[in-house]
Amino acid sequence: MQTTTDAPSPNESKRSFLKFILAGGLTALAASIFYPILAYMKPPKQGEVEISSVKAGKLSDIPKDSGTIVKFGTKPVILVRNANGDLRALSATCTHLDCTVQYKKELGLIWCACHNGKYDLNGRNVSGPPPRPLEEYRVVVQGEEVLISKNA
Ligand code: FES
Repeated sequence: MQTTTDAPSPNESKRSFLKFILAGGLTALAASIFYPILAYMKPPKQGEVEISSVKAGKLSDIPKDSGTIVKFGTKPVILVRNANGDLRALSATCTHLDCTVQYKKELGLIWCACHNGKYDLNGRNVSGPPPRPLEEYRVVVQGEEVLISKNA
């Protein structure tokens, strides 16, 4: 009389257990090799550093009726000194499509070359496509040093 059983023989179950352990070990080995490589290749996350003020230079170095682009962290700021010598700092990023604006001495305006947008020296959008005025920054003169800071 022949008996049949569906249960695997003890050798087969040992073999499948060893295969399972070997596959897990190989997976762990591959992960331990490739994870540090991938982690090294991925650039680290860097948050934008919050800047509260920047030095724009000496007052005597900024001529009247001129405009200068100053870096405020990662953003450009335009420092305008009008014909009377008054200073004003405004965001140099056009409110239309983010081009950098410039001081146009012959027009007495701040001008965006991308689509001929114009702002007055107070940052108000006066012609062209810009929908909003330029953001204003605070300018403080300490001795000879010109400091630009965010408006509170
Ligand atoms: S981006 Fe300045 S006018 Fe269009």
